[in-house]
Amino acid sequence: MPEPDRAGTGDRPAPGTATVAAGIVLAAGAGSRMRSSTPKVLHELGGRSMLGHAVHALAGTAPEHLVVVVGHERERVEQAVDGISAALGRTATTAVQEQRLGTGDAVRSGLTPLPADLTGTVLVTYGDVPLLDTATLSALVTEHAGRGAAVTLLTCEVADPTGYGRIVRTADGAVTGIVEQTDATPEQRAIAEVNSGVYAFDAAFLRAGIAGLAAHNAQQELYLTDLVAAAVAADRTVHAVRCDDEWRVRGVNDRVQLAELGAELNRRVLREWMLAGVTVVDPATTRVDVDVRLARDVVLHPGTQLHGACEVDEAAVIGPDTTLTDTVVGAGASVVRTHGSGSRIGPGASVGPFAYLRPGAVLGERGKIGTFVEVKNSDIGAGTKVPHLTYVGDATIGEMSNIGASSVFVNYDGVRKQRTVIGSHVKTGSDTMFIAPVTVGDGAYTGAGTVLRDDVPPGALAVSGGAQRTIEGWVPRKRPGTPAAEAAQRAGSDPSTNGTTSNDGAGHTTSAGTTDPRDLSRGGTAR
Ligand code: UD1
Ligand code: CA
Repeated sequence: MPEPDRAGTGDRPAPGTATVAAGIVLAAGAGSRMRSSTPKVLHELGGRSMLGHAVHALAGTAPEHLVVVVGHERERVEQAVDGISAALGRTATTAVQEQRLGTGDAVRSGLTPLPADLTGTVLVTYGDVPLLDTATLSALVTEHAGRGAAVTLLTCEVADPTGYGRIVRTADGAVTGIVEQTDATPEQRAIAEVNSGVYAFDAAFLRAGIAGLAAHNAQQELYLTDLVAAAVAADRTVHAVRCDDEWRVRGVNDRVQLAELGAELNRRVLREWMLAGVTVVDPATTRVDVDVRLARDVVLHPGTQLHGACEVDEAAVIGPDTTLTDTVVGAGASVVRTHGSGSRIGPGASVGPFAYLRPGAVLGERGKIGTFVEVKNSDIGAGTKVPHLTYVGDATIGEMSNIGASSVFVNYDGVRKQRTVIGSHVKTGSDTMFIAPVTVGDGAYTGAGTVLRDDVPPGALAVSGGAQRTIEGWVPRKRPGTPAAEAAQRAGSDPSTNGTTSNDGAGHTTSAGTTDPRDLSRGGTAR
């Protein structure tokens, strides 16, 4: 399957990029404007936490050391870092910032696990800037290394600079410092070029500079931004790289911004997939998480959401109105109005409309899971069909079998879940109850309405249930005058007839009435 360089996920280093000694992600803040019991950086967009996006982007530059600075709800954030590091297959360390004394103090904490004699480039990013990508960071590193700068800033011209640190430049354009909103003069507040909070530092300059920071400002914090003026004062090179894509550097402070960035990330992900050969009929109602993989000529109909690690192979058609999580869909399969997770749908198979696939549902090649069918922890073989109104749980079904409508795999005895095993070329009648554990051999049939408690050998027909009694003329006699009685009489039902026929359930009709020699398996399978 093609893997375009998906926007916002940027886990690929650009070729020829200068090396990065360390990457530090600041993620100690409380994020109180999220009004959440979940730490801000653990809120998700595109199927990945904000911190996950930040760490993936940084990891893409292949830093020798990767440190996440934690503080607020540190245990939960540390746990998340472990998960991200496992997903990336690389080490990410955490460093604790005991008190939130400002971004300068946060970076000081981030330096503690690093070697004291670290040299080279240190990248600093935030855990709440989820669309920052590896390409943007790599460009910053290249510029920084090329100029031998002490610090290189990533700046951005924004329509509304409120709240950001402003970039102060001399008349000839040289950066002289960053001034925070709260410390800025009215003239400085009018500056539209802002500090994104993403920096490349020379490691030795950063360590020495952090040690020299003082909280001489309105917020009584240690400002990382003061290092810019410090570099200028020390006659070191300060460089600024402008990012012309504001989304890349936008931070999230509340859930409105989370939704805005989530929508933008999704637009970018869909755009990449469309350019890679996927038809997205209605991008506005389609959501695709960043870790999803799609092959050429996949079609996503309106109202489709693909979450987690979904993989969809060539020319499969998904939707409308389908939500799949961690599900694999084979080439040419069709999945319509379906809710599924942790499932595998074989090539050429058909699912829905209105199907519910729970974890462990596996459908073989050209198999069918039809309308109002729920499947859980079951293996349904190639070419086997479960077309209508059925629950399949804890079952193994062979190939080319057909499960009749309205059947239930009765897998739970109140204590334990039990398995049902059905062979190949089996045809089970409508409304068969498979009381697990039970086995149905290859080529066997069951009659409609069978309650299957005992194993069925290959080739056998199993039927069960009480005999059917038919009491002639009952309705006109017992419910006279009702529309049913009148209809029955128009159809020739005679209230004076009082015959009863019984069927023993095995195809043998007893008593006076008409004999019906029909094979019970006929009509036992709805199609
Ligand atoms: C900071 C910059 C500002 C820039 C803006 C971009 C400083 C002094 N100002 O603003 O120039 O325009 O970012 O968004 O650096 N954090 C910690 N520990 C702390 C403080 C912050 O880990 O003690 C983390 C936060 O979790 C957050 C990031 O650092 O991810 C930025 O903190 P925030 O308070 O949002 O930034 P500002 O200081 O407002
Ligand atoms: Ca902020």
